[in-house]
Amino acid sequence: MDKIQHSEGGSKGPAILTVDCVSMEFDGSKVLDDVSFRILEGEILGIIGRSGAGKTILMHLLRGIEHPPSSGRIVYHLACCDSCGHVALPGGEGRSCPVCQKMLIHRDIDLWNGDEFWRDRVMHRTAMMFQRTFALYGNDRVIENVLKALDDSGYPQDNAINRAADLLDRVRLTHRMMHIARDLSGGEKQRVVLARQQAREPIMLFADEPTGTLDPNTAHVRPFHAHRSSAGAGDGDGDHVPLLPCDRGGGRSGTAARGRFARHGWPAG
Ligand SMILES: Nc1ncnc2c1ncn2[C@@H]1O[C@H](COP(=O)(O)OP(=O)(O)OP(=O)(O)O)[C@@H](O)[C@H]1O
Ligand SMILES: [Mg+2]
Repeated sequence: MDKIQHSEGGSKGPAILTVDCVSMEFDGSKVLDDVSFRILEGEILGIIGRSGAGKTILMHLLRGIEHPPSSGRIVYHLACCDSCGHVALPGGEGRSCPVCQKMLIHRDIDLWNGDEFWRDRVMHRTAMMFQRTFALYGNDRVIENVLKALDDSGYPQDNAINRAADLLDRVRLTHRMMHIARDLSGGEKQRVVLARQQAREPIMLFADEPTGTLDPNTAHVRPFHAHRSSAGAGDGDGDHVPLLPCDRGGGRSGTAARGRFARHGWPAG
């Protein structure tokens, strides 16, 4: 990996995630080599690196999918409800649970070596846009795609159309709302995927090269600004959702060895 860039703007809070000495090997070949960093609540963090540097592997490890790391730990720091299992961003500690009104308490959840129950709860509240995969219902209209995502996440039906329209507005797709999804351009599809992921109100969004199909203007301003300003209706987390786009500033070259991070651009304060 060449670079890891921490966020511009936005308030920053306590750490939500610690990546501690993570390495990944396939058949004796090291793809990630002793990677460590933290992500704070409210941060945007970009991972930059050449093709094959290990960006997708790292994101999958953070999301908890596919293979476990060969060594190291990935620990989420969250505010959790022991009564109903709701998990929220760490700043929610001490507040009442939006689901059952019990108090949220701090928990460190080791994603790959911890309790299965809490691992499932974390994965339920994180979301991922996969590289070059448009997970859409191609025969359905754009708005129907977003409505399905809202329905899947249990959003109240009586306000779902307004919420779907709002999410599409945030990714600047109001004018495509009634189009059939398969007829959209690649970049438009990507933005519907983003709206669908936002519908789930994730506490962390992983985006693997989300802007690969977008022109620079759209890529840098619209969907990602839209994500950060999207208010989470559930427990007020929306403005502080960490976002990990894997291609911000992509195309820069770096000299770091394959699989290693050269840290760069820590928050300005
Ligand atoms: N399941 C696997 N088995 C063996 N090698 C793998 C496996 N998955 C990934 N790799 C290797 O790990 C390396 C990093 O892959 P990764 O997909 O993370 O790269 P990347 O940085 O996302 O690249 P790109 O920018 O092209 O998407 C590659 O050399 C890839 O071939
Ligand atoms: Mg990749």
